[in-house]
Amino acid sequence: MWWKESIIYQIYPRSFKDSNGDGIGDLAGIISKLDYLESLGIDTVWLNPIFGSPNDDNGYDISNYYDIMTEYGTMKEFDMLLQGLHQRNIKLLLDLVVNHTSDEHPWFQGARQSRENPYYNYYHWWPAEKGKPPFRYSHFDPSGQAWTYNKATDSYYLHYFSAKMPDLNWENPQVRKEVYDIMRFWINKGVDGFRLDAICYISKDTSWPEIETHDWGAYYAHGPHLHDYLQEMNREVLENTNITTLAEAAGITINEALHFVEENRKELHMLYHFEGMHLGYLKDAYKRPDPKGIDLVELKRLYTSWDKIYETGGWGTIYLTNHDQPRMVSRWGSDIETYREVSAKMLITFLLTMRATPIFYNGDEIGMTNIRFESIDDYKDIDTINMYKYLQSKGEDTARFLLDQQMAARDNSRTPFQWDTSTNAGFTEGKPWIKVNENYTLINEAAQEKDDRSILQFFKQVVLLRKHQPVLVYGRYQLYDAAHPQVYTYTRTLNGTMFLIVLNFSKETVVYKLPFLVDADIEPLVNNMLTFELEGGNLNLAPYQALIFGPLPPVMPTAAAAEEKAEVLPLEEETI
Ligand code: GLC
Ligand code: CA
Repeated sequence: MWWKESIIYQIYPRSFKDSNGDGIGDLAGIISKLDYLESLGIDTVWLNPIFGSPNDDNGYDISNYYDIMTEYGTMKEFDMLLQGLHQRNIKLLLDLVVNHTSDEHPWFQGARQSRENPYYNYYHWWPAEKGKPPFRYSHFDPSGQAWTYNKATDSYYLHYFSAKMPDLNWENPQVRKEVYDIMRFWINKGVDGFRLDAICYISKDTSWPEIETHDWGAYYAHGPHLHDYLQEMNREVLENTNITTLAEAAGITINEALHFVEENRKELHMLYHFEGMHLGYLKDAYKRPDPKGIDLVELKRLYTSWDKIYETGGWGTIYLTNHDQPRMVSRWGSDIETYREVSAKMLITFLLTMRATPIFYNGDEIGMTNIRFESIDDYKDIDTINMYKYLQSKGEDTARFLLDQQMAARDNSRTPFQWDTSTNAGFTEGKPWIKVNENYTLINEAAQEKDDRSILQFFKQVVLLRKHQPVLVYGRYQLYDAAHPQVYTYTRTLNGTMFLIVLNFSKETVVYKLPFLVDADIEPLVNNMLTFELEGGNLNLAPYQALIFGPLPPVMPTAAAAEEKAEVLPLEEETI
């Protein structure tokens, strides 16, 4: 199964490369960077939505599933892009957004005209004669309400996201058939799979019970027919193909994950969970960073648990950012210049050595950072803008919100890719649709191509290592020193070969005692620093130092270490 061995690279087309000077990235821009993609060693690209869209939410509001967004180019260019990727042995995942459409989609344009319109039942409606609709939370609506009144039909339509993104009615078999037709259309064009946007929200309890809780997670992702629909999708479209699916699994807990990806259930192939994304944020405010930072012990516990559930079936993914999150290095490492390079490399090492398909977001490979906008006027993202309006209407502290957004806003990761030191970082010759991060003269791809010790070269080195070492893909994962507050240590073991990975997740120098004896002369295979100090079983780890040792023969933990750390299990061999 090719997708288990893949390294996914996510491209945000709007911000990757502009070919015609209108300030918006496009397909021709991506085509001009195909050799770059190949040079990275990645083998799968996930493109954020490229379909017809009025761009209320940068393409996540689709008005035509069968065509390319005008700003992005033409179907001919899409075909060229796909061909160019395949020539380089890179597969393509499209972003399928079928929980909702744009309100400008012809289906909704019809639906909103009258209750008799054939498309009316493509969406969810609450007739006004029944009184006020039951509360449902909207992610992006400045009112916080997911029902919006439509005069012509004298009814309210449901939109979990903005009012310009009405939710499709999956109870209607005709809607499901339309979705499968869309999938088949793109599969026939040759795409290799789909990232399924907000897919866990597709089924709604259409008895529309009153819901007391404001915890949207409790009802969004737990519709009564969700798994029936996914099984139907599998039967109708996916079965007996080589197509893969990657579900965005917001609201799904660890105990439910296997229901989506366990092979015998015949639903989907992979999902990405959100549990990791909540780390380091306070629980009682909207995306407010915890001043205490990220608790590494909790992080290790979480990723170890997620590894464990896939021991018996299914397959995991791992990521630290995407287009909905701030920049990886700013959030999980440090973007202060002293630590930026070293911590970016440490995080790359982590993603590439876990037992899960890694997903990188464009710009991670050169250590791009948060832009930290100061004014609401700089933001383009509906999420930030509408939340700001919502807080403003409630008389809440918007200055505080803006400060939090400097860390957490989605626009942090949506600024243009930094190619070189020319104007606008080489992204566009026109005016970029969103500001370019001023640090592009320091952080850019061209400079890192020339520097053997750059983040980019390091990324390529570790990508290559994972590609050549099945143990890093399939090997059993074993955590050590679960309670260590600064260091994340694990081994990967397969068929008599072991790799040991030691990651200092902190800004401090740490004297770290290895959990088992290693050869006194051992040298790391990968090191994100120039220095390496090992004395009497103690590693002197520099801030954010990352080390990979291997291939080594599997070792048993020493008796003393095993006793001291009761949670350490003896190593077992595992075969693919
Ligand atoms: C997903 C996308 C996000 C989008 C939302 C609505 O969460 O990743 O960018 O805003 O769905 O489609
Ligand atoms: Ca353009």
